[in-house]
Amino acid sequence: MDHFAYRDGVLYAEDIALPRIAEEIGTPVYVYSRATLERHAQVFRDALADIPRKHIAFAIKCNPNLGVLRVLARQGYGADVVSGGELERAIASGIAPEDIVFSGVGKTRAELALGLDRGIGQFNIEHEPEGVALAEIAARKEMTAQAVLRVNPDVDAGTHAKISTGKAENKFGVGIDVAPEIFDRLARLPGLKLRGIALHIGSQLTSLDPLEAAFVRVGRLIADLRAAGHDITHVDLGGGLGVPYKEGDNPPSPADYGAMVARVTRDWDVTLMFEPGRVIAGNAGVLLTEVLWVKPGAQSDFVIVDAAMNDLARPALYDAWHDFQAVRPSGETMTASIVGPVCETGDTFARDRVIDKVAAGDLAVFRTAGAYGATMASTYNSRSLVPEVLVDGDRYIVVADRIAAGTIMAAERVPDWID
Ligand code: LLP
Repeated sequence: MDHFAYRDGVLYAEDIALPRIAEEIGTPVYVYSRATLERHAQVFRDALADIPRKHIAFAIKCNPNLGVLRVLARQGYGADVVSGGELERAIASGIAPEDIVFSGVGKTRAELALGLDRGIGQFNIEHEPEGVALAEIAARKEMTAQAVLRVNPDVDAGTHAKISTGKAENKFGVGIDVAPEIFDRLARLPGLKLRGIALHIGSQLTSLDPLEAAFVRVGRLIADLRAAGHDITHVDLGGGLGVPYKEGDNPPSPADYGAMVARVTRDWDVTLMFEPGRVIAGNAGVLLTEVLWVKPGAQSDFVIVDAAMNDLARPALYDAWHDFQAVRPSGETMTASIVGPVCETGDTFARDRVIDKVAAGDLAVFRTAGAYGATMASTYNSRSLVPEVLVDGDRYIVVADRIAAGTIMAAERVPDWID
């Protein structure tokens, strides 16, 4: 459920008509709904009601906007971060350091030290040398790093290859078969309190089966580690729950997910940790855009909008579907390809799709753009960095400014030794 709905033929975000934002802020612009973020945060938490000890860390990579993070911090969410930059953002948003989990496949020594200095709650170690480095840095600071070892359970998440992370050939974690020996060696290091296991097998999962298969494997690993004398108190189950992007999509609900987790982990006797991203933020945002031109094409018309692949990269990167809706639909439809102004054929949001009929000057939105939208934006083609707006009932605020191409250019210089 989200709070983007038509009233008298006009699309609203909560109580704000989208044409008002287009007029006052300009397009393209991301628009987030606070009520939707809060609802999703609550639904996910409620789905885990049967889990006695838990910690939910929003995967901030999907939407690291400070305003969005503050909303989730107030919902009691921690943060899953993957870089020093994300770590500082999480703290700046008001998330308590001890509620921060540091994932990430290639943390630098400086980032590990930063995590220790900021007093974060947990490091998710990706491989043995990283664990050794963390232990050394912590011991030198006379600190103890709380950590878990990320395992790669070798299951096929059944999602797009580019966002699948739990197959043996993927770069993430250590093989679950070699995890016991690595755990054993790392657990002996001073400076490290290795307290459990982490996994994350992929994103936009539309079936619970691969998750369950992975969790079952981790359950066996926990038993083996305990049999070897290790104290296992925390297991981080990652994120990955899919969201509906188009009509007919029917991913498992948070409630289904929670019930599966409760069943599979019943005897684990640990604090379970979760890193949801898309399921919280995906449907809490839209990308508002204006139609620049409608141009006849060989197969169907091209609807050329003022948003492009640099603003919303998912269609170009993963052939992802984002619903396109007119802000003031006439009821008529057209078949068209929706494209942006960037000079690449990949700058295509939809091919030969039946959409609301639009004309130059009309406003439209790409739905389900609250996750992996603005955060993956760039300034390719010297376009501005897209701004972000947060709506709260009948008020809204710009939570990230549009960064003009000129501002980006001002950070560059021409060497004086080129004449
Ligand atoms: N935890 C870890 C360790 C992750 O790597 C990710 C996402 C998450 C949690 C959150 O996963 P979620 O609940 O959002 O599925 N840019 C891609 C998605 C990349 C996901 C990367 N990792 C996209 O637009 O589909």
